[in-house]
Amino acid sequence: MRLAGLLSSSNEVASGTGMSLLLALGCFFRLGASGKIASSKTRSVFKSPSPLSLWRNVSERGWGEVEKGMVLTSLLLLTACQPAEQPLVIPEPESFAAIIYPPDNPTTRAGLALGRDLFFDPILSVDSTISCGTCHQPERAFTDGLEKSIGIYGRVGRRNAPGLTNVGYLYETLFWDGRADNLEAQALHPIAEANEMGGSWPLVISKLRGHADYWPRLQKAFGLTAKKELTPDHVGKALAQFQRSLISGDSKYDRVEQGVETYDELEALGHAIFFDLADDPSGEFANLPTGECAHCHTPPHFTNQRFFNNGLDLARDLADFEDAGRGAITKNPFDRGMFRTPTLRNISLTAPYMHDGRMKNLAEVIDHYNSGGQYAENRSANVFPLGLDKRQKAGLLAFLQTLTDTSFVNNENYRPRRPRGE
Ligand code: HEC
Ligand code: HEC
Repeated sequence: MRLAGLLSSSNEVASGTGMSLLLALGCFFRLGASGKIASSKTRSVFKSPSPLSLWRNVSERGWGEVEKGMVLTSLLLLTACQPAEQPLVIPEPESFAAIIYPPDNPTTRAGLALGRDLFFDPILSVDSTISCGTCHQPERAFTDGLEKSIGIYGRVGRRNAPGLTNVGYLYETLFWDGRADNLEAQALHPIAEANEMGGSWPLVISKLRGHADYWPRLQKAFGLTAKKELTPDHVGKALAQFQRSLISGDSKYDRVEQGVETYDELEALGHAIFFDLADDPSGEFANLPTGECAHCHTPPHFTNQRFFNNGLDLARDLADFEDAGRGAITKNPFDRGMFRTPTLRNISLTAPYMHDGRMKNLAEVIDHYNSGGQYAENRSANVFPLGLDKRQKAGLLAFLQTLTDTSFVNNENYRPRRPRGE
């Protein structure tokens, strides 16, 4: 785990350049400039020497010119750039590539707490009955246990609610069909969706403008001065900040990777099938079938974020798919019936499975892959009959269960803090 805490935003450039550039940069990041800036750069700015390491330097060597300049600058920044807050760095597992925080929506303490409370508050639905948390429940790794989600007025949606484990790492696209590009934009969908939260942004915004608790917190988190400045984008940003904090990397799989735990015999068998260890002809598992799973469910997130047809439906013609999935977005006939590979982290908590919730449990999923699925012209070449016997299927199931992270689902930071309602 990396160091958590509030880090100052501009030390990296402090050593050589003038104060004015520094101030401009500092304000730029802290107030949230719009437009794209190289994201890896942004991260290194967020993570540049912490106040603690600066302090250590100072106590070892005494006050140098650089430190004096930095302290003075920090003071200036504090006064020049009020009221926006310092970006917060949330610890991430070492094995994950660092999360990319958008320059115009860095996570802050105020924004994160606001996003969490809004996520669990039905105030975001038209009749104040449904919250994001109704369909994305923390104890189920942020799914709802239903085949297809039930939204406002008991309306049944068309797809299964995906879990939100490590959703902040899905940089490519969101939703089963990839129709949203990022978390900020995604959050605007369910609130506007007639089947989910009822579809009235003006009403939601007016509820928030008049709210004794949320309005001052929205002001603080986004530096708003007048009520008319509040837009759906601010709600989207707060919800995105909370969702980026949903980081899970403490499963048995991770602990085995770190060398602090070992698989039992069945789990080791399943691990070998999942990762095609039979490809090593001199290895212990040389005669085992290959599951091919990791081509698509690639670690550390157990998704490659790409779209596939994994053989759920027989389609003699590509036009036959009942739900066109990715094809409905790209309009490319070959993408019909393709869906984004879901993560398998916490998979044993998120039944039922697949984009329409058609499979009740993991045994059914394993039987599906073992059969090779149904014919379609665009079915992936990595989905074919596997020939797993009973014990090998049990092994694969046992391995999938090692992807459960109980500290994630029990994390108190993912629970609402203020009482729900208006
Ligand atoms: C009525 C149930 C319901 C509600 C309420 C709901 N969602 Fe969802 N959510 C779903 C379903 C179903 C999907 C998948 C839809 C699809 O892919 O077509 C989804 C998908 C998502 C995704 C995409 C995840 C991925 O892996 O691509 C995110 C993120 C998300 N929801 C966040 C939210 C937020 C934030 C809210 C509140 C503003 C919310 N949801 C409210 C049911 C719901
Ligand atoms: C060609 C890519 C590919 C391969 C290979 C693959 N999967 Fe999948 N997997 C997917 C896609 C795509 C979906 C979602 C399909 C849908 O809902 O239409 C999926 C769904 C799943 C689900 C359900 C997830 C959920 O949240 O509903 C599980 C579990 C799963 N796969 C496990 C496996 C296992 C185990 C293997 C190896 C035996 C495997 N997959 C091989 C692409 C793949």
